[in-house]
Amino acid sequence: MAFAPVYLDWNATTPLDPAVREAMLPWLGAAEPARFGNASSRHEYGRQARAAVDEARARVAAAVGAHATEVVFTSGGSEANNLFLKGAAATMKPALVAVSGIEHPCVREPARQLQRGGWTMREIAVDAQGRIAIEDWQAVLAARPRLVSVMLANNETGVLQDIATLAAQARAVGAWFHTDAVQAFGKIETKFRALGVNAMTLSAHKVGGPLGAGALVVDKRVELSPLIAGGGQERGLRSGTENVAAIVGFGVACERAVARRADEALRLAALRDELEQALGALGARIFSATAPRLPNTVFFALPEIDGETLVGKLDRAGFACASGSACSSAQPEPSHTLLAMGVEPAVARGAVRVSLGRDTLADEVRRFIASFAGVVGELRNLASVAV
Ligand SMILES: Cc1ncc(COP(=O)(O)O)c(C=O)c1O
Repeated sequence: MAFAPVYLDWNATTPLDPAVREAMLPWLGAAEPARFGNASSRHEYGRQARAAVDEARARVAAAVGAHATEVVFTSGGSEANNLFLKGAAATMKPALVAVSGIEHPCVREPARQLQRGGWTMREIAVDAQGRIAIEDWQAVLAARPRLVSVMLANNETGVLQDIATLAAQARAVGAWFHTDAVQAFGKIETKFRALGVNAMTLSAHKVGGPLGAGALVVDKRVELSPLIAGGGQERGLRSGTENVAAIVGFGVACERAVARRADEALRLAALRDELEQALGALGARIFSATAPRLPNTVFFALPEIDGETLVGKLDRAGFACASGSACSSAQPEPSHTLLAMGVEPAVARGAVRVSLGRDTLADEVRRFIASFAGVVGELRNLASVAV
């Protein structure tokens, strides 16, 4: 690609960290000594593959303060979320499952699917800032859920929840508590024990690792039925020959994400603040502005300007960012996170997400601000001509 647009969509995915790539290359046959093997084979090739998987497991566990035996490798965050909800539900009598109203679809959909098996599903309300609404939470607890899932950080607004408190309260009424930490890990401190959750989801590609790898970190007391049965890999919880290259990359990515996290968070928060000030001066409404949030994420809308149109114009101007719409249908739907926060659909249709990451430079953010002002000026001119 001769011309590389500035990448401002780090919550969608991240480029592979060069050190991760380096660690993966031998397992792709692309560096000496080339390595391969089925981690279940009882010969030297198999033993090397097993050792690599074990080392990666130890790295992932150390990064989140868990025990290596608590890490179950999956194909990513979506599978880990499904494994927790469907896997735990399959071992219980149908009861109440409660998930927040702002979860990623890979939590909401499996929770919804449980209804076919007789479960009742309830969405926990959030307030106007996107934080769990305390009154509704108390009502959920009173209804004695058996399974609860609340994300640590939201992928759109970046809003953080007080997971330690929610988990303690849910566990006190007999629920297994899961958190989707896919967006939080690598951006804020994410420790399994300190959070007090029974299960937690991670994804490699959000932290400089490869696409298609992730993990469910899960307390051994939680009984799970596997989604994929077969040869019994991953303690019988996820059969299938391990993707050694991806798992090795995931392990290194976790270690590196934790090592740079604190410095990066400070650097990115300063850039984020500068960006928000500039957006505010142009009349943007910043969603969840007063809530605790990830340091790298800005979710905003400009009155009267459509988010999809804005993202398209920015794309042509050389900046890759995301609109807040779900594009799975022909007619893009406004962000369900914003709707759950009570934002009017007309405003939600204007939503744009800018998310920064380890390679984002101050100069890129400033160029974005300048271009953005130009693009918005053009769109406003067009709107006034049209009137
Ligand atoms: C909050 C959250 N959970 C889960 C996922 C899914 O993870 P994966 O892409 O690894 O399946 C994403 C990815 O967009 C996400 O943002």
